Amino acid sequence: MIKILLIEDLESEIKPITKLLTTDFESVVTRVDSLLDAVKVMESAWIRPDLIICDDHGSSFTPLSRMLELSQGVPCILIVDDPTKFSEFRKIKQAFLTEPVARKHLTRDLLSRIENLEEEGMFVHLAKDGSLDPRSKKIITVQEQKVQKLIETPKPNIQTVHNTTTNSIKLIQEVTSKIGFTPQVQAIATKSVELTLKVIADSPKLSEILKTLKTQEGKFIASHSMMLAEIASALASQMEWSSGATFTKLCLAAFLHDLTLTNNELARCRTLEEAKALPGITQYELNQFKLHPTHAAELARKFHEIPADVDTIIAQHHELPGGTGFPRGLFQSQISPLTCVFIVAEDLLHFYLDRDFRADALQFVKERENIYVSGNLRRALKVLENESTAMNKATSFS
Ligand SMILES: [Fe+2]
Ligand SMILES: [Fe+2]
Repeated sequence: MIKILLIEDLESEIKPITKLLTTDFESVVTRVDSLLDAVKVMESAWIRPDLIICDDHGSSFTPLSRMLELSQGVPCILIVDDPTKFSEFRKIKQAFLTEPVARKHLTRDLLSRIENLEEEGMFVHLAKDGSLDPRSKKIITVQEQKVQKLIETPKPNIQTVHNTTTNSIKLIQEVTSKIGFTPQVQAIATKSVELTLKVIADSPKLSEILKTLKTQEGKFIASHSMMLAEIASALASQMEWSSGATFTKLCLAAFLHDLTLTNNELARCRTLEEAKALPGITQYELNQFKLHPTHAAELARKFHEIPADVDTIIAQHHELPGGTGFPRGLFQSQISPLTCVFIVAEDLLHFYLDRDFRADALQFVKERENIYVSGNLRRALKVLENESTAMNKATSFS
């Protein structure tokens, strides 16, 4: 059952839209007249909708920005006359806007936007007996088939692989949070690793990978996990740890490492200090954040035939040299070699994400030189430095 918050004030449109939403989808629609009312609903947390549909004829920019800030990753479909007017709202970090729906194609496009979100795993729901409802079951089966088809495709399009893998991780996250790490979800994870390995190939080039990466709005956890899998594998490969087994471990760890977090904003934080500084963060959320490496590692151990080390990488992915990381405050010598690769890879990814991918890996190396001073963390940084220097030389000659 999808909980929809509908912002619609025109009497003539309320009925047809509500009918559309309740006939084709099992949904409960809460309707408000204006964006100001929607802001009140979101501020008071009366309901936490699964989806917001906003047909605000007044195009009042300030309440729309406020509503999107409050939406915290809940997908929002705007119904508009002029889609170009709304692009600036995409910059709001918390906003997860789909392509807007042009009012003249309302019936056709509204339904297809919702179906796309469903396929992306945004609305996984339970039946009364506690199992997944038939619609969610179908979505998972279809997703598994999509991944399988791409595995069988000789040269799949990289962007399609990225999008499909991101959807897989999002689905795994949704289902796991509702009914646990089921065998079917494990099968999707295994297949998605297989698919990622297919595009990573034998020797993944970090420079090539960084060029193809792109975040997907509203799906930070899923989308950074997919990117991390590729970056960590590329880094490992340059460190001459290029066996298929190593890539499998790093990919699986990347897919599962933040799985127990549900808040995309929290998942962006690298340290406990950053998490504490988030506005409105509760003590409970902070504890969940502090323990997410432990919780996710426990989840990984339930995985059927999990390769050794994956749970260690996950449990240690926020540790830092000098015992300054969490949850255990380990020292460098206690951090496993593959975790070192993973830590540097995720740090590098965040460096790029914070700069909208207009970053320079050499700058990253310079800024981290005093942090990653020894052992495998240092080695990973050195490898990155060599590759970036070679890359810069190649561009200046071409
Ligand atoms: Fe992460
Ligand atoms: Fe994390």
